[in-house]
Amino acid sequence: MLLPRRQLTLALLKPDLCANPNTISKIISRITATNQHNNFEIIRQREILWRQQDAEAFYAEHRGRFFFERLCGYMTSGPFMALVLARQDAIKEWRALIGPTHPWRARINAPNTLRSLYGLTDTRNSFHGSDSDETAKREIEFFFPELDVDAWRRQEEK
Ligand code: PPS
Repeated sequence: MLLPRRQLTLALLKPDLCANPNTISKIISRITATNQHNNFEIIRQREILWRQQDAEAFYAEHRGRFFFERLCGYMTSGPFMALVLARQDAIKEWRALIGPTHPWRARINAPNTLRSLYGLTDTRNSFHGSDSDETAKREIEFFFPELDVDAWRRQEEK
């Protein structure tokens, strides 16, 4: 029988979450729970503490937007977790699980999502997810340069 091919995505559990270890364990349990909408495998996991230049490099495409300084300030305010997640349609399913960028919008339109439950403000929205295969490769290799995403994908196709 052919198993459905899995996809990789990068997930960030941002600094406000990492200030509370109980919250992180609850979120990890939800991510790996075996049901149709979760069931992600955590392929890599690392605690990160960024300098200003790291945040500016990762979010370079947003330089010049009104929230850029705020976003980089938040992401350098303390340690956070970077995770590589695998499952079928991982990019779409992780973004569905975290919900809309703005927590207030998530609370209205997607109340069971992670940003609805844990997000604090437009800036402190607690989670990140890659938005395409190309972005996922760049973002995963930013945090996990030892993981060759193309090689992983080739292996997965076999
Ligand atoms: S866009 O327009 O689709 O590129 O923007 P979006 O993907 O929604 O957001 C890009 C990243 O910027 C963060 N963001 C904000 N930070 C602070 N304040 C405001 N108002 C704000 N709006 C968007 C958003 O969380 C994205 O970062 P990540 O880490 O991907 O969540």
